[in-house]
Amino acid sequence: MHLRTVERIELPPAADMHVHMRQGDLMKLVAPTVVQGGVDTAFVMPNLVPPLTTVERVLEYKKELEAAAPGVNFLMSLFLHPTITPEVIEKASAAGITGVKLYPQGVTTNSDAGVADMKAFYDTFSAMEKHDMVLNIHGEVLESLAPKGTTLEEAFLPTLQSLHERFPKLRIILEHCSTAAAVEAVKACGPTVAATITAHHLYLTETDACCNPFAFCKPIPKKATDRDVLIRTVAEGNPKFFFGSDSAPHLLHTKTDAEPGKAPAGVFTQPFATQLVLLGLQDGIARGEIAEDAISEETLANFLSHYGRKFYKLPEVSATSTKKIVLVREGAKIPQSVRSADGSVEVGNSRAGDEVFTLKWEEK
Ligand code: NCD
Ligand code: ZN
Ligand code: ZN
Repeated sequence: MHLRTVERIELPPAADMHVHMRQGDLMKLVAPTVVQGGVDTAFVMPNLVPPLTTVERVLEYKKELEAAAPGVNFLMSLFLHPTITPEVIEKASAAGITGVKLYPQGVTTNSDAGVADMKAFYDTFSAMEKHDMVLNIHGEVLESLAPKGTTLEEAFLPTLQSLHERFPKLRIILEHCSTAAAVEAVKACGPTVAATITAHHLYLTETDACCNPFAFCKPIPKKATDRDVLIRTVAEGNPKFFFGSDSAPHLLHTKTDAEPGKAPAGVFTQPFATQLVLLGLQDGIARGEIAEDAISEETLANFLSHYGRKFYKLPEVSATSTKKIVLVREGAKIPQSVRSADGSVEVGNSRAGDEVFTLKWEEK
């Protein structure tokens, strides 16, 4: 297949293993966009206000999401916090909660209650290993802790490696990996360590992120060479690397009203999640980073759907869905924003104005 010219692509429903669904009216606006982006299974982040630190609240939140977006399989997570003891892990596992998200304290949106001392959680990690829960990591250090010339993500990689050595059976996901070094580090670990790759890290670099609030996120997009390693990693097809959009909606005015460099971190890609992955790959082909025929339907199905489900030990999509997603070129363009009916809630889209495939759901 030549991705830049193909007129029609058929894929299984995608699994987006890193989404921010937020709360209240913003949740009601963004939850339905999961399906629009071709996704039937979504792993939901717990960095709400306040963070999701009890099993009860996670289950309540799951119900709210299911009401807002019927038909989506929402996989849930707890926010790692001193109250997440081995007993809570046992209870969470019994309640069907999938993962626990580790945010180093203060590194990203709503992470003030995050982890300051990793060692304090070793018993919790042991319990997670025992109950086969997934540890999802926002792999960055605080700016003050990164050696000069090292990115916040690169400075975190030794911690990933040592956690894996200490807990080799614990399934760990390095979320939204953004550097060539992170890709190498994940490859160097055993099969229990994987990473998600977003759509936007396939097309943004530091030059975009510095100056466009709608391209600013954590981890900050890096050099063109890092972006191209991510593209090649998708093209090569490695089960350790799968899709997690990290779509992170922020109210439009908080982005546009912010002083330069002070906008809240997060790129919103959910309504076009699948198409934006394709766009990032198409750009990579246009630049000659990967060959014209480097991306097959199988490559896309693996990255967007199969590999993530497999790592999470979910049933195969063919066993859980009667549907497929069909992408066709109809000259559609990404609108500026997604807005509620009364206009009070509005989120700006990534790559607004760019031409994308139109996505339809059909029976197989
Ligand atoms: C995310 C958010 O807004 O919740 N922001 C981001 O830039 N990615 C948090 C996160 O995933 O780090
Ligand atoms: Zn993160
Ligand atoms: Zn995120």
